Amino acid sequence: MGIAENLLKMFSLEGRTVLFTGAGGGIGGELASALAGAGAAVALCDINVDALDKRKKLIEDMGGRAVAVVLDVTKRESIETATRAVAAEYGGIDILVNCAGVNKREGLVDVEEVTYDKIMAINLKGAFFVSQAVAPYMKEKRYGNIINIGSHNTGPILGGCSVYGATKCGLLSLTRSMAVEWAKYNIRANCISPGHIKTDLTTATWAHPGRSEYLLNRIALGRPGYPADIAGVCLLLASDASSYITGCEYRVDGGCVCGGQPWEYDTDF
Ligand SMILES: NC(=O)c1ccc[n+]([C@@H]2O[C@H](COP(=O)([O-])OP(=O)(O)OC[C@H]3O[C@@H](n4cnc5c(N)ncnc54)[C@H](O)[C@@H]3O)[C@@H](O)[C@H]2O)c1
Repeated sequence: MGIAENLLKMFSLEGRTVLFTGAGGGIGGELASALAGAGAAVALCDINVDALDKRKKLIEDMGGRAVAVVLDVTKRESIETATRAVAAEYGGIDILVNCAGVNKREGLVDVEEVTYDKIMAINLKGAFFVSQAVAPYMKEKRYGNIINIGSHNTGPILGGCSVYGATKCGLLSLTRSMAVEWAKYNIRANCISPGHIKTDLTTATWAHPGRSEYLLNRIALGRPGYPADIAGVCLLLASDASSYITGCEYRVDGGCVCGGQPWEYDTDF
């Protein structure tokens, strides 16, 4: 087998079906396009119907297969209805990408219960119950693959991200539980933790002169991340190229956690 043929076989998602939550967003939409480009039939799920329709058209225009399904991850009934519809449309669900997420930056003492509940309900409880609803389809096929979108804040923490950070640490822990409990059904689970990526979620931060400078100083590659920067690792984890990888976290942060920009130094020591 030649190199190209071997790579194609390892990374191809032909015949696979993927359910994305948060597919109307910057990262979820880009990941959906990437996996559709690798041959998967994708189910785009979100509460933002306009964004779903736009992404569906983009994928279809490039020759991919996509359906748009309204799914509110905070509502159990919506989760059940949407996952059933996707499984019926595609004859199962092979891969799940839990990407729906929100944040509100506030100091610990200012966080109101309603904010706490909302962030928890979308980022952590939502991913928990979407995964619980999708797992039986994977179990039936003895094949499954779950990719949870974590965050920079699973490790270092930015100020004003107490609830968000707690949800993402919880999601990483949940990833490990899925990997451990569902391995016997040949279901893998991993977490991708993006660094500082330019999307609607972070527009205000990148638009702020002081904060954007703070972030850039902490990124070794010296630039923001873009949703397309996450696509490669997502394809790796979604494909059989990573068949022995489960329960792991992958950071895609341009060298942020590793130390960021070095200070000025001389070489005369
Ligand atoms: N942008 C970053 O720098 C960054 C960094 C680390 C992690 N992340 C994570 O990546 C994921 C995607 O973020 P993004 O930057 O693309 O943000 P985004 O705001 O562009 O996308 C988030 C999507 O989630 C959807 N959503 C919100 N509530 C929902 C609900 N109840 N049910 C279903 N969908 C819902 C929104 O409609 C939106 O389309 C999030 O989990 C976020 O925490 C983002």
